Amino acid sequence: MNPDEIRRDFPLLKDVIYMDSASTSLTPEPVLASILEYYRGYRANVGRGVYRLSRLADDIYRNAHRKVAGFIGAEGGVVFTRNTTEAINAVAYGIKWRRGDVVVTTAAEHHSNLLPWMRLKDRGIGLKIVEPDRDGSFDPASFEAAIGDDTKLVAMTVASNVLGTALPAREVSQICRERGALLLLDGAQAVPHVPTDVGDLGCDYLCFSGHKMLGPSGTGALWMREYDLLPLLVGGGAVEELDLEGYTLKGGYEGYEAGSPDVAGGIGLGAAVDYLRHAGMEEIALHEGRLTRRLLAGLLDIEGVDVYGSVDSRERVGIISFNVAGVSPTEVAHLLDEGSDIMVRSGHHCCIPLMRHLGLPAGTVRASLYLYNTAEEVEELLAAVEEISKIA
Ligand code: ALA
Repeated sequence: MNPDEIRRDFPLLKDVIYMDSASTSLTPEPVLASILEYYRGYRANVGRGVYRLSRLADDIYRNAHRKVAGFIGAEGGVVFTRNTTEAINAVAYGIKWRRGDVVVTTAAEHHSNLLPWMRLKDRGIGLKIVEPDRDGSFDPASFEAAIGDDTKLVAMTVASNVLGTALPAREVSQICRERGALLLLDGAQAVPHVPTDVGDLGCDYLCFSGHKMLGPSGTGALWMREYDLLPLLVGGGAVEELDLEGYTLKGGYEGYEAGSPDVAGGIGLGAAVDYLRHAGMEEIALHEGRLTRRLLAGLLDIEGVDVYGSVDSRERVGIISFNVAGVSPTEVAHLLDEGSDIMVRSGHHCCIPLMRHLGLPAGTVRASLYLYNTAEEVEELLAAVEEISKIA
């Protein structure tokens, strides 16, 4: 991975220090080029036409599914969605539930991995919440206690979008296997940052966002071990056979992508996967690990700064939540933007239950890193936070 070369592919980085990749990532030139190429060179719908533009679009769109599957160590089973939220909702809709089934999830989840399960209450589905320790980490034993014979599904994140800390996904997978429960992993904050293999994770569903991994906005993916879910949408493009009595859906991803899909988005996501593979996921993880270690140590050294989550950078992806005593998270984010061109997210990060657990009603400031961030940028952030801490 060559950081200078990488930064040239993100012209926006000339103007700002972008540290909000956990929300959405920037998009490199080759991904933009792949989208333009589609619009300029072979703009047509997929799965519907026999003419050459449509066949070309279909080949490249289909291949993008293969690339995304390969990226997570799968052979197939990848359906394109708009984002992780849609992927999780597709699972919540698509499982053949029985009244009395229980979903186990955690209090550290993004709202998108809570609301779809809360809504199932109306259908007689129970919900059990596993609570983290005081610092937001989880003991696998609390999952042992929560997962019972009635647990149909465990739905948890691989890494917290607030604290960056890893949850014990592999241990939970083992418990799920022993107890016959399905496992959904929210990979939104992990798949873009660390090498991911669904076989190794041992999950049944993996949901993640293309727009957080250099892909176009409005892209995401759902991997399922088997194409065993009821599709969220049915309609054109998904049909194999139809008479007015009934229908048969196409096999594979097409049965789950009814309606004209976001062809450009899917092709762009395929190009993003090529880009990440070329940079090397191991190298990306190492680079982010180095930056995270420095950022964590630097923030812990500033008087009046509280850092949340584990202080062991090996247990984290490149997301750090902190507060400056006497200055609200929103104000810190404004000051970082106005004074230092640093872009960070502030507030509850769509994780109100975790904020309650941590006793942080105003939330936190969250800096999140990616392959295009540098050690110099981390030092700039630290210097700016130190300045802000003095005004308090
Ligand atoms: N899920 C995104 C975040 O954590 C939007 O910021």
